[in-house]
Amino acid sequence: MTIQKTLSIIKPDAMKLKYSGKIIDFIEDKGFSVIAQKKIVLTKSQAEAFYSVHKERPFFYELVDFMISGPILVQIIEAKDAVSFYREIMGSTNPEEAEEGTIRKLYGTNIQCNAVHGSDSIENANIEASFFFSKLEMII
Ligand code: RTP
Ligand code: MG
Repeated sequence: MTIQKTLSIIKPDAMKLKYSGKIIDFIEDKGFSVIAQKKIVLTKSQAEAFYSVHKERPFFYELVDFMISGPILVQIIEAKDAVSFYREIMGSTNPEEAEEGTIRKLYGTNIQCNAVHGSDSIENANIEASFFFSKLEMII
């Protein structure tokens, strides 16, 4: 049990549906603290860089178009075992398959418009946090 930080993104679908407040409440109710956050609109090249790990996947261009379709809320959040715990409370990628009571089950629409992103490893959490935030912004 160690205190960790992870990178969360409230995606354009959830922002458009005005779910960001509900999702922040949900995250805080589970014990997370929001360390840093900003509302931004990604450029195409920024979204391609962020999701470059998926560049060979068939859904890559759709995913990039979706991620640049409106504002997103990017957050560094902290809790015990934050990386795996956040993945657990987000639920499966496809909201239809997500467990009851998870963010994607509650607020996701479909496999692409699934409300939130969460880092999938401690290493990626650090890389992703540095992608969006400067050292200064990461200080509480
Ligand atoms: P994320 O990276 O956003 O936290 O989601 P994840 O790990 O659960 O899923 P991943 O496989 O990394 O996919 C990244 C995002 O791509 C979109 N996606 N679309 N059309 C499709 O079949 C498809 N599959 C994935 C989703 O927005 C997914 O979260
Ligand atoms: Mg992923």
